[in-house]
Amino acid sequence: MLLRLFSFATSIFLALGFVQEITFYTEPNAGGDGFLFRSKQPDLSPHYSSQLRMVRSYCYTGWWIGFNETNYSNQNTLNQDSANGTVVCRNATFPLTMSLRYQGPLDTTTPSVSIYSGTISNYAGGIERTFTALAATNFGFVPKYMVLTGRSSWTGFFNDDFTGNSTCFSTSELVAQVYLTEITVRSLVKGCDAKYESEYYDVDKILVAAGSENATRYPTRYSQHHYPHPHGFPLRTTRYEN
Ligand SMILES: *[C@@H]1O[C@H](CO)[C@@H](O)[C@H](O)[C@H]1NC(C)=O
Ligand SMILES: *[C@@H]1O[C@H](CO)[C@@H](O)[C@H](O)[C@H]1NC(C)=O
Ligand SMILES: *[C@@H]1O[C@H](CO)[C@@H](O)[C@H](O)[C@H]1NC(C)=O
Ligand SMILES: *[C@@H]1O[C@H](CO)[C@@H](O)[C@H](O)[C@H]1NC(C)=O
Ligand SMILES: *[C@@H]1O[C@H](CO)[C@@H](O)[C@H](O)[C@H]1NC(C)=O
Ligand SMILES: *[C@@H]1O[C@H](CO)[C@@H](O)[C@H](O)[C@H]1NC(C)=O
Repeated sequence: MLLRLFSFATSIFLALGFVQEITFYTEPNAGGDGFLFRSKQPDLSPHYSSQLRMVRSYCYTGWWIGFNETNYSNQNTLNQDSANGTVVCRNATFPLTMSLRYQGPLDTTTPSVSIYSGTISNYAGGIERTFTALAATNFGFVPKYMVLTGRSSWTGFFNDDFTGNSTCFSTSELVAQVYLTEITVRSLVKGCDAKYESEYYDVDKILVAAGSENATRYPTRYSQHHYPHPHGFPLRTTRYEN
């Protein structure tokens, strides 16, 4: 009974997420005036882009990316994550920052997958589309990068009709990223299922691009044979019904 209560309490704790936010300050150590963002900012100019030049420190939760051009283009001026909801503060100054966004949905407990078109010098830039439904297709581009939230698992398929070679992407974090440099994903379903015979990609452990020459050296990339529950929790499995 005690154990049951304990695991109940644990699941409540796990269910508590956080809203992604970032506050910029004009003095070191979170001092001076501050301004808070909780929304995606495709164009910070002219007001906030000049304000950001005066910033000397910032505090954030979640995962925030700043870009040197509008519409989330090109070089990162900021790329910081606090995937477990801890507020992290840093002293820093910023180069010209013209757009800024958090990854995926505002509340990272939401099980979701986001895909990114990428820009010339940044896979995480460009168009972002976030899905929470059971299945997603017709992306409009072949994603170069993906973000998972809410400790979720997703199966990505080579073809846009949920067929072809597939990969199970799984994370035990509230926000996690995947570079799709070698894996083509044109459709997605929520959850993983042995019936797809997917390759398994542990988003939390693997540090090289999925499908790259070194990926197979990592023990976290399992074959269908040991279809795993690596974190001690069952992968959320959702069947896709035609
Ligand atoms: C930030 O800068 C202040 C003043 O220069 C310094 O006292 C403080 O230790 C710095 N904090 C961090 C986290 O580096
Ligand atoms: C940003 O993208 C939107 C939609 O694609 C477009 O209408 C707008 O002109 C772009 N803005 C800039 C400053 O590039
Ligand atoms: C943004 O960064 C890219 C890559 O370094 C660079 O080519 C581009 O000129 C920069 N854009 C601006 C507006 O500074
Ligand atoms: C959250 O992650 C940071 C490192 O990113 C770590 O220092 C901290 O202890 C973690 N907090 C919790 C509550 O797990
Ligand atoms: C699927 O994967 C297998 C094994 O890696 C490969 O031989 C085959 O060409 C792939 N098929 C497609 C359609 O990508
Ligand atoms: C794979 O690993 C080898 C040896 O560590 C390294 O030389 C090579 O650059 C790596 N390839 C990639 C794509 O990371």
